[in-house]
Order: sequence, then C-alpha cells, then structure tokens
Amino acid sequence: MIEIHNIHKAFGDKKVLDGVSGVFETGKTNLLLGASGTGKSVLLKCIVGLIKPDLGSVTFDGTYFTNNKLDIRQEIRRKIGMLFQSSALFDSMTVEKNVEFPLKMLTDMNKEERMERVNFCLKRVGLEGSNKKMPAELSGGMKKRVGIARAIAPHCTYLFCDEPNSGLDPQTALKIDELIKEITEEYNITTIIVTHDMNSVIEIGDKIFFLHEGKKLWEGTRDEIMDSNIKELNEFIFANRLMRDAKKVEEEEREEEEERQHNGQLSASQGKEKAPSEETVETQDEPQPENPEGPAATTQTGKDKV
Ligand SMILES: Nc1ncnc2c1ncn2[C@@H]1O[C@H](COP(=O)(O)OP(=O)(O)OP(=O)(O)O)[C@@H](O)[C@H]1O
Ligand SMILES: [Mg+2]
Repeated sequence: MIEIHNIHKAFGDKKVLDGVSGVFETGKTNLLLGASGTGKSVLLKCIVGLIKPDLGSVTFDGTYFTNNKLDIRQEIRRKIGMLFQSSALFDSMTVEKNVEFPLKMLTDMNKEERMERVNFCLKRVGLEGSNKKMPAELSGGMKKRVGIARAIAPHCTYLFCDEPNSGLDPQTALKIDELIKEITEEYNITTIIVTHDMNSVIEIGDKIFFLHEGKKLWEGTRDEIMDSNIKELNEFIFANRLMRDAKKVEEEEREEEEERQHNGQLSASQGKEKAPSEETVETQDEPQPENPEGPAATTQTGKDKV
C-alpha cells in the first residue's frame, strides 16, 4: 500500500500540485485520471522520488520515503518498477539486454539466474523467443510489453505506469491494460497508472483518483464514476460521445429495472390482497355466526396486512 499525504509542488510561481492525498491499495490497479497538464505525471514522479515535493509525504507499506535516509530510500527504489510513457527502451540493446539491465543494476543474480528471470518475464508478457530482437524491430505494443517485462523483472512490489497504452490501437491498448491488471493481481503488487483514457477506466479502474488543476477532486471505483456529482469530472468523462451513450443506456436500464420492481411490488400486493378474499370466498359458503361484520371485514383485515 502506498500513502501520499498533502503533496504540494510548484515550478517557479506555477503551482502544479496543491495538497494531494490518497491511499493506493495493494493488489489493485489504481488510476490517476485527469486532463492534460493537470499534474498526473508530476505526481507520479513525486511518488517515485524523481521529483522532490515542496511539501507532503509518501509512505510505502508504512515506511516513510520522502526525506528519509538515502539507504532506506534506495531500498524502496529497488522495489519500484516503472513503465515510462515512451517505453524508454535502450535502442542499442536487444530485448533480452533491456530486460536484464535492472537485474544487473539492482540484484546480485549471476548470469544464469538473470537469463532465467529474463526468459520468465518475456514469457509472462507474451514475448517468448523475442530475446535477440532490437527495439527498432518491434511494434508499439511489443515495446510496451518489453517495458513491462523490464519493470517487473527485479520482482517489483510497486509498479508505476505513465500512459501505458498511449499511441496504441484500441485492441492492443486493451491487451496492455489487461496484462498490467493480471500482473498486479497475480503478484499482489501496488500499481499506479497515469491515464486519460476512459477505456482504461472502464476496463481496469479498481480505484480511480481524478485530478483537476493539481487537486484530487474525486476518488472511487469504475462502477461509481458515472454517477459522481463532480462537474469537472462529468465534463471530463462525458466529453466522449461513447461515454454519453453509455450513461444514457445505463439510465434507461435503471429506469426499466425500477419499473419492473414497481410492477413486481404492485402485482405482489395485488396477490396478497387477492389471497384473503379467496379465503373469504371459501368461508362465505360456511355459516359464520361468530363474524358479525361478514366477509367485508375479513377482506379489510387482509388489506391491513399489506
Ligand atoms: N520539470 C518541470 N519544470 C517546469 N514545469 C513543469 C515540469 N514538469 C511539469 N511541469 C508543468 O507541470 C504541469 C503538469 O504537468 P504534467 O506533466 O504533470 O501533466 P499531465 O497531467 O501529466 O499531462 P499529460 O496528460 O499531457 O501528460 C504542466 O503545466 C507542465 O508544464
Ligand atoms: Mg503526463
């Protein structure tokens, strides 16, 4: 679990982050959502320590990170895997060397162990046998996969992805999203993904943090996001026509469901009303001297029960 508390960051007199707090849970895909220029990447960099916040703190599984001693910060950094927006592969290295790189830097594995881990990670992202390819030979989606393999290679506990599916076609983007979610759940890591893609929100948004002008305006799940009363969030979501249509369908379905329930209750209550009167009909045949008010009184009792 990663906790951030009251993060502030300004560049000169430009305030970018204005007191952002939140908890990112383990085993979940946590999304930082927001319009361009709203401070998502700066917040991500503050969390991983690439940018020092002016104020506020970041805690990784209870260990204070910001301003802590160098060796403690380095220990946490070792557990961080990062997928950069551009994949940021080393162009002059093969796929295998790219994935091996953090193992050389961060672990004391020998060559054989490193190769075993490289092959395991490449297989996990669906790139088995691509070891000797150069980045220039890969498609955008394949590059992202290599980036993910490299990020998870040193057994990361925390995975950060900045716009992991930007520049990809919708199907490949979905596959990358699904892969990140699967890895998050399989290895029970804490994942934070920066995105402005509503498809990602719908597909993998376990928890979403909506940033607007450097503030967190809303947080919640993908099931809740369409029903927020936050004007800025609604403007962001429903700028997309598909989302507007989805909302319309959702509202129509809800209305239909309410109508069904209403009709169901109505017929149930009519049924209950009917039952005693049937009883009444049956008992009408029998002499009932002990009921001086007759069948109507029995029916009224039935109604009272409803
Ligand atoms: N190193 C920096 N120096 C000065 N200003 C910066 C720096 N990094 C970011 N900014 C500014 O901070 C603001 C937020 O930038 P950030 O990269 O976090 O936006 P974003 O939400 O990630 O946008 P996008 O979706 O376009 O990637 C921008 O106005 C940007 O110009
Ligand atoms: Mg960004």
